[in-house]
Amino acid sequence: MRTGILFVVVAAALAVGIDSGRAADDAGVTKAVAVLSSTKGHDVSGTVTFTKVEGGVKIVADVAGLTPGKHGFHIHEFGDCSAPDAMSAGGHFNPHHMPHGAPDTSVRHAGDFGNLEADESGKAHYERVDSVISLEGADSIIGHAVIVHEKLDDLKTQPTGNAGARVACGVIGVAKP
Ligand code: CU
Ligand code: ZN
Repeated sequence: MRTGILFVVVAAALAVGIDSGRAADDAGVTKAVAVLSSTKGHDVSGTVTFTKVEGGVKIVADVAGLTPGKHGFHIHEFGDCSAPDAMSAGGHFNPHHMPHGAPDTSVRHAGDFGNLEADESGKAHYERVDSVISLEGADSIIGHAVIVHEKLDDLKTQPTGNAGARVACGVIGVAKP
């Protein structure tokens, strides 16, 4: 009798476990995050979140420790921030072999987010819904890196926007929805 009850409890617990696992798979990845760390010689920090919304992915970035003004802001190809200057992250994330461009045009790297603009205290807030990037599938941004640059992205110089050195880097990972 006691064994019978135990069996039912264990079976019910397993069923719930399997069920919630399936539910998570069905929803897919709906949120991602990158925590930015400074490259050598800088003191930049911040967080970038990516949330699936109607019409694309909402990007929200809060970054501190910048010089006032505009700073190039991109996803780069490799999720590798290990080099002191973050050059290990490679070039701009560009799965469709497009030229570099502005974020609001169709001719751009998938990773082209334009610029962050820091105020006098060195803080920048960026918020935009992007219709090019994706959190799932072959072109998913998960596992790639977010980079913030020293200088502004002029949105036209190939293939980098002439944004200069990399001041912060963070790898994009799956976040709790
Ligand atoms: Cu960049
Ligand atoms: Zn680019």
